[in-house]
Amino acid sequence: MAYRIAVLPGDGIGTEVVPQAIRVLDKIAEKYGHQFEYNQGLIGGAAIDATGHPLPEETLGLCYNSDAVLLGAIGGPKWDNLPTHLRPEVGALLPLRKELGLYANIRPCRMYSALADASTLKKEVLEGTDMVVIRELTGGMYFGPKGRETVDGVERAWDTMLYSTPEIERIVRLAFEAARKRTRKEVCSVDKANVLEASRLWRETAIRVAADYPDVTLTHMYVDNAAMQLVRNPRQFDVVVTENTFGDILTDQASMLSASLGMLPSASIGGNVALYEPAHGSAPDIAGQKKANPLATILSTAMMLEYSFNLVTEARAIEDAVEKVLSKGFRTGDIMEAGKTLVNTEEMTDRVLEELA
Ligand code: IPM
Ligand code: MN
Repeated sequence: MAYRIAVLPGDGIGTEVVPQAIRVLDKIAEKYGHQFEYNQGLIGGAAIDATGHPLPEETLGLCYNSDAVLLGAIGGPKWDNLPTHLRPEVGALLPLRKELGLYANIRPCRMYSALADASTLKKEVLEGTDMVVIRELTGGMYFGPKGRETVDGVERAWDTMLYSTPEIERIVRLAFEAARKRTRKEVCSVDKANVLEASRLWRETAIRVAADYPDVTLTHMYVDNAAMQLVRNPRQFDVVVTENTFGDILTDQASMLSASLGMLPSASIGGNVALYEPAHGSAPDIAGQKKANPLATILSTAMMLEYSFNLVTEARAIEDAVEKVLSKGFRTGDIMEAGKTLVNTEEMTDRVLEELA
């Protein structure tokens, strides 16, 4: 089959890891007889520099006309002080998610046994961790009413955590469906219902939706407690569902269960065209030094093959190849430990390609 993939490398290490993921896709195409057609688009700072806008119409059009989107990362110090609507994060990534209707961000987080000692967390705590966080992606404080004003000489600013029942219902449903496909069939809904009104609606809605899924167990947890439980005993989680901001924060934290943010892939789904991107950012501090870990992006393409193209065998092949490379001791800087072999971005991909061959 032929698939059209919009490729948006973006900024910083995004431009280094995306070409590596494409090498992996090319290998899959060759091995399993598929055709991937790549069309590059500009986004973020790169788009500002070239066109004056972080999300050009052309890029959006390209995404609409593709079967899936592969995104690297966006942003950097050069564009941090632009007016809000032009900043890469708020001017490009958020509208892209909204325009494409990607209300669900899926971030699987598991412990790789080869990386048990690479994490800052104890091996005994991590052992057996295999969870997925489902983050609501087009609502909450990111998109609610916001503003800034000066009253009596005092400046103030606000962002509003706004959720409607249909928005909560669809994401919670998606979490229940995901849990159904897993062994434990457990959903933990994370909120702050002891304080926030939006969380009270969230919890009521989750309880109502749960009635349609008698085979799935629903529990609730306050977000502060969830942050603590993630490092105290991550094994307790199966599927976690939460609102946008909580999910943003908790998934950075959860990435350490896989030893590094450089290991965490993500899929943003819900619309006609899904978007795949590593959970990490553009990492200006290491950009251009060939140090970036390409595995989060490579694993994101595995999610693309599975979720968008239903190529499950191919997806598993990539994931297995990554595991083998790690167990052979190859490491980028972020997961490096004594006694292992340090490789750069491209060499790490070379190793993955070898395993796929
Ligand atoms: C993420 C990122 C983005 C977010 C930023 C870059 C806008 O941190 O995908 O987690 O906050 O959603
Ligand atoms: Mn984030």
